[in-house]
Amino acid sequence: MNTSAANPGELAGRHLVLGMTGGIACYKIAELTRLLTKAGATVQVVMTEAATQFITPVTMQALSGRPVYTSQWDGRVPNNMAHIDLSRGADAVVIAPASTDFLAKLAHGFADDLLSTLCVARDCPLLVVPAMNRQMWNHPATQRNVAQLRADGVETLGPDSGPQACGEVGDGRMLEPEAVYESIVSFFASKVLAGRKLLITAGPTFEPLDPVRGITNRSSGKMGFALARAAQQAGGDVHLVAGPVALQTPWGVYREDVQTAQQMYDAVMRAAPDADVFIGVAAVADWRVDHVAGHKIKKTAGQRMPTFTFVENPDILASVAAMPNPPFCVGFAAESDDLEVHGEEKRARKKVPLLIGNLGPLTFGRDDNEVVLFEADGRTPLPRAAKQALAQTLVAEIARRLPDPSIIS
Ligand code: C5P
Repeated sequence: MNTSAANPGELAGRHLVLGMTGGIACYKIAELTRLLTKAGATVQVVMTEAATQFITPVTMQALSGRPVYTSQWDGRVPNNMAHIDLSRGADAVVIAPASTDFLAKLAHGFADDLLSTLCVARDCPLLVVPAMNRQMWNHPATQRNVAQLRADGVETLGPDSGPQACGEVGDGRMLEPEAVYESIVSFFASKVLAGRKLLITAGPTFEPLDPVRGITNRSSGKMGFALARAAQQAGGDVHLVAGPVALQTPWGVYREDVQTAQQMYDAVMRAAPDADVFIGVAAVADWRVDHVAGHKIKKTAGQRMPTFTFVENPDILASVAAMPNPPFCVGFAAESDDLEVHGEEKRARKKVPLLIGNLGPLTFGRDDNEVVLFEADGRTPLPRAAKQALAQTLVAEIARRLPDPSIIS
């Protein structure tokens, strides 16, 4: 599972009008359309005349699975009111790419073609994804127009900075389709963690034996990364401390990579005093060898097998929970059997208000999971679900257990 790409069903039931204006970034909208439809959204593409110079309506129709509209005078709309009909029932209008000219038109309320008229006539939120040369973006008129649009409640996604199609480098390039997709999902997510700082650990740890070997475990990091993504989308400020995993960092999440339990402990203890919530999803190795060999341990014929002495690693979760003024602590436990007994015993031993338990062998590396919430006053099983969907449920469950920020302790 890629925690940053479209998840099937994530935008199910959402209807988006995707407005395209003239710019080379139009080619990226083919991919964006694919991500949105894969996630279950219906996408109604509307293009300006200029946009059709960069990518054809035929391509966009094939990808969106719906007829594309380009003209105010389109005979397919019986009442000839395409600007009204197309936006009614939409959850949002997304303009991508949004050209310099189109931003200027929007800021001044011009309505001289189908897309600009539709924007003025809409009764739903408007998101714009600017894409232009750096000089055009930095031009005082563009900056004035963007400021006006923001004041009017229009959401601006990007732009990004970097190499541009014209060969120059700077601000103005369109966000990559995945980043636009993530921003759209975030836009619809309820902001139950707004203003909260979350510290999350994910993945395994790796405890070296010598420079080439070590001890690790089967955690893929998927659940922790899914939680980090869901928490960010819920408005949280997320710091993710990740063990060695090959997963893409969720958009908008601050990631710190570590290898060993001790490094994870150090990273967590540095950040924990500032966190409102700590979620320990990492499968932390309980032991490390007391002495890591400086050279690769050689297999020599006739010699005795190497032996290792282990020392215990710090318990990160229990240490955070034992801080004088701890964040709200959530543990995860993967058990091989008897989840009911071990889950509650572990929660009480680590002194955390909430522990999320699952049966490890049924979870490792999979894209779905089935968990039970253990709390002082009982247990709540949740149905099996895709890890990303489950992460959203868990974020909502955690958010409603947080103390009201207006009550100062
Ligand atoms: O490994 P165990 O089942 O004890 O893990 C339960 C919880 O404790 C998890 O949230 C895990 O991240 C955390 N833990 C930890 N430090 C350890 C061992 C586990 O924070 N050394």
